Amino acid sequence: MTSAPKSFSIKSFGCQMNVYDGERMAELLSDTGLAPAAPGEDADLVVLNTCHIREKAAEKAYSDIGRLRRPDGSRPLVALAGCVAQAEGSEAQARSKMIDIVVGPQSYHRLPEMVADAARGSRPIDTGMPALSKFDRLPRRRRAAPSAFLTVQEGCDKFCTYCVVPYTRGAEISRPWKDVIAEAHALVGAGAREIVLLGQNVNAWSADDETGGDRGLDALIRALSRIDGLERIRYTTSHPADMSDGLIAAHGEIDKLMPYLHLPVQSGSDRILKAMNRSHSTDSYLRTIDKVRSARPDIAFSGDFIVGFPGESDADFEATLRIVDAVGYAAAYSFKYSSRPGTPAAAMEDQIAPEIMEERLRRLHERIAVHQLSFNQSKVGLDTQVLVERKGRHDGQMIGRSPWMQSVHFQSAAPPGEMVDVTLVAAGPNSMAGEVRSERTSRAAA
Ligand code: 5AD
Ligand code: SF4
Repeated sequence: MTSAPKSFSIKSFGCQMNVYDGERMAELLSDTGLAPAAPGEDADLVVLNTCHIREKAAEKAYSDIGRLRRPDGSRPLVALAGCVAQAEGSEAQARSKMIDIVVGPQSYHRLPEMVADAARGSRPIDTGMPALSKFDRLPRRRRAAPSAFLTVQEGCDKFCTYCVVPYTRGAEISRPWKDVIAEAHALVGAGAREIVLLGQNVNAWSADDETGGDRGLDALIRALSRIDGLERIRYTTSHPADMSDGLIAAHGEIDKLMPYLHLPVQSGSDRILKAMNRSHSTDSYLRTIDKVRSARPDIAFSGDFIVGFPGESDADFEATLRIVDAVGYAAAYSFKYSSRPGTPAAAMEDQIAPEIMEERLRRLHERIAVHQLSFNQSKVGLDTQVLVERKGRHDGQMIGRSPWMQSVHFQSAAPPGEMVDVTLVAAGPNSMAGEVRSERTSRAAA
């Protein structure tokens, strides 16, 4: 490849932080004069923004690269970004000759210059964790979905024994107070009505505010709630050990903070939680859940679970089913344990057979589905507000989210970004049907 690319496409895998990073890379590339390729059109530059959390996700990056060769034998310039790039560095280029650029999650502000280098025939790699934050070099936000992501915290110091994140995303860092506030204003100015604060351990966020005082996430949420035109605030993902009393209280005090909390527990067995180095017990987790419920009685919880962690017995797994029942999650995500290179759990004895993991995952899915449906059913008949996000599949149908993160479909002429008053009239396993009561036509001036 010798000529400079004119168009690009970015495909993000994995978590919401990757979605955010993908949006920022798109803004950067647009600023250097590249145009986003139309859907279905071949791009001159393809960025694969990868996930390393489980083996299957990591392998997906390589199978996608293989498919980028065109029938005439030509291919786009390929940039491997995200956590696989960070974890594998130059090994990635040794494994696939098609990878021109390797760029980690902390260095993608350098993508435009790396693309220029690659177009001249070199194969640049940057997996550094620079002291100066990439955020300072990224362009101002100009586009935003009705519900927009805003990364406020990155990295993880918790070192759960199964997890690659502390290695791929590095140590916990919090973005400065004024930077977050400025980006939130820019997002609202660009059309966001909801902001989802992101971080691997978002509730560990802390920084000095304008007065120099050390503040936690609750203070940040309180400050953001004063932004006119911003209607809703969420945050994810939280660690149970970092749910401070102030943050719990904020759920009862700040109307714009939505009644939904993603609080992964991973297992219901204390023995397994210890082996996972989770730094919380089932008991402390359930106490936290109770406290949040006291502050905000209608709060919905979601969680993450891993089945088949090394040494997990039938009794341990039964304990996981029991904690699902005890919490009554509105939604939950469950995964088969995947052994990751370099993590302590990969070296543990008593790895669980794939067919046992499969069976446990199936039973866990079933149990979670029961709670999810009953949560949805409990909301039937309720009058609430929905933030319109996009068109539905049927004529005149729109789709948005309830305060509890339920996907709601309804007939309406309201465009994305509008808040509509809706009665929830029917519940399905994964969504709700709504009927519009009145359409608020005023888009808050931002
Ligand atoms: N295997 C399976 N699931 C994992 N997760 C993290 N690491 C692994 C692993 N090695 C899950 C956890 C985490 C979610 C983002 O991914 O449940 O909360
Ligand atoms: Fe991974 Fe544990 Fe950190 Fe979450 S808290 S990112 S699971 S090490």
